[in-house]
Amino acid sequence: MNAPVVLQVAATPASPALVLRPWRLEDVAALVVVSRDPALRQRASSVVDNDADGPRWVQAQQRGWAAGDRFGFAVLEAQPGSVRVQLVGNVVLKEVTSGKPAAEVGYWTAAHARGRGVAPRALEALTSWAFDTFVAGGLERLELLHQVDNVASCRVAQKSRYDFDSILPAAPPSFPRDGHLHMRRTSA
Ligand SMILES: CC(C)(COP(=O)(O)OP(=O)(O)OC[C@H]1O[C@@H](n2cnc3c(N)ncnc32)[C@H](O)[C@@H]1OP(=O)(O)O)[C@@H](O)C(=O)NCCC(=O)NCCS
Repeated sequence: MNAPVVLQVAATPASPALVLRPWRLEDVAALVVVSRDPALRQRASSVVDNDADGPRWVQAQQRGWAAGDRFGFAVLEAQPGSVRVQLVGNVVLKEVTSGKPAAEVGYWTAAHARGRGVAPRALEALTSWAFDTFVAGGLERLELLHQVDNVASCRVAQKSRYDFDSILPAAPPSFPRDGHLHMRRTSA
């Protein structure tokens, strides 16, 4: 991909507009702060482990873009009355392989920004971009996985039209509880 991908999401009556763009090293300070949230640490599959770990995490996202198999976006929210933006989340398209029909999505929202539809709005933008970009390479469906007790994530899947597909059995230690597999197909 030559130019950096920037996705725009319109404001709603309850929430400012969002901008999605590839992670940059300048995001590290804000990333480290939001990564201290225990709920995020418990649920996200890839997190910043400690305050010194931010650059490594961002560089891993950048390697994914360079390799063309993992596309992580920082989700930024415009601040009312200001030109400044604030980090509010992460959405990622992963496991992308040319000729493979399925890829996977993931997301988190910073604790201070939850409950305002940030994740479903950002996921919708990611989903449209993923299908627009990778259908020609054989992409047919996107998969979304969450643990059964992650009700908030299940709501994000439902609101984003990722239909429930099946229960995934627990596989400790990485997946201590059963999971839900949701899917969205190109035609949805
Ligand atoms: C799951 C998560 C991404 C949802 O993000 P979000 O931007 O808050 O999404 P929404 O605003 O659409 O809220 C989704 C649900 O979260 C719950 N919720 C609402 N307000 C909330 C708040 N202030 N704090 C926490 N959860 C809240 C509600 O169940 C809501 O569903 P509803 O719209 O039917 O009421 C977010 O809670 C999160 O980052 N959790 C930790 C990481 C995680 O679980 N990632 C997904 C791994 S599969």
